[in-house]
Amino acid sequence: MSAFKDNLLAGMTAFVAGGTSGINLGIAKRYAALGAKVAVAGRNPEKAANAAAEIGGGALGLSCDVRDYAQIRAALEEAKDKLGPLDIVVSGAAGNFVAPALGMSANGFKTVVDIDLNGTFNVFRACYDLLAPNASLIAITAGQAVNPSMMQAHVCAAKAGINQLIRVLAMEWGPAGVRVNGISPGPIAGTEGMARLSPTPESDKAITARIPLRRFGQVEEVAESAVFLVSDSARYVTGTILDCDGGSQLGDARDRQAAGGLS
Ligand code: NAP
Ligand code: COA
Repeated sequence: MSAFKDNLLAGMTAFVAGGTSGINLGIAKRYAALGAKVAVAGRNPEKAANAAAEIGGGALGLSCDVRDYAQIRAALEEAKDKLGPLDIVVSGAAGNFVAPALGMSANGFKTVVDIDLNGTFNVFRACYDLLAPNASLIAITAGQAVNPSMMQAHVCAAKAGINQLIRVLAMEWGPAGVRVNGISPGPIAGTEGMARLSPTPESDKAITARIPLRRFGQVEEVAESAVFLVSDSARYVTGTILDCDGGSQLGDARDRQAAGGLS
């Protein structure tokens, strides 16, 4: 069930970096279903073409690496030329692997920071002069930005940087009418991110037991948050990070009584 009416984004153009799979593809599909013209971008051209076909409605599937400023700029320019000035830009490209800091080379750490944090700067910096009036930008962050998590030094550092980048850009670009917000999804079912972080049914169960709402989220639920933030209902919302996570960031919510106490 969605509270949003079918033509909410009619006449608008949305660019979703990292929108060729998972959560970001879900966001792109929802924007298109609400009437927006949509471009999605990822490294793999075949995956991008398939995602565009899945979205339908003349969606563009573009190939670029967000670590390369010239490549992301070219993709954003192509989207603007073909679909019009950008009303919505989502920066969601990310990389993750599970490793302790001592199992991570300098290049392994740098790779994730380059995709997530530097990639988000690149996307937002490169799109600025291609934006429509009153444009809305969203960065996809994660709970690791706030809660230190072992085996995730690279992601924790990168996503924490993204949270601050969101706030600084909201301050600098607010006077021009550009809103900048973030979404922090919790564990989302059926995604590459969760396949990496929780590889077995047992680990799924252990994670679910800690979440206040006692379940993984759905891609479609994150997409609803992404619609709210770009909608007129959020016109006075900028510099905020919306946790769409079933309460995950509140802490470990296992049933202590059933477990026999706090130990
Ligand atoms: P996913 O399916 O792996 O999506 C990642 C997307 O980014 C793909 O489109 C991928 O396409 C693209 N990408 C990766 N590296 C890129 C690069 N260097 N340049 C351009 N595009 C690149 O991941 P997901 O699990 O849905 O996660 C999506 C977002 O949600 C991420 O920002 C993630 O940190 C965040 N998040 C996810 C969860 C979760 O439960 N899954 C929880 C919290 C936050 P190519 O591989 O073709 O480049
Ligand atoms: N443990 C330790 N180091 C690892 C690793 C792992 N599991 N996986 C990759 N690395 C290291 C590599 O060894 C390399 O370092 P080195 O040159 O010192 O050997 C470095 O990370 C870069 O790896 P490479 O495979 O060249 O990077 P890439 O740019 O092709 O891919 C990744 C980036 C590694 C993040 C890859 O997993 C990816 O493309 N992920 C996108 C999808 C994803 O992660 N989705 C979930 C989003 S939350």
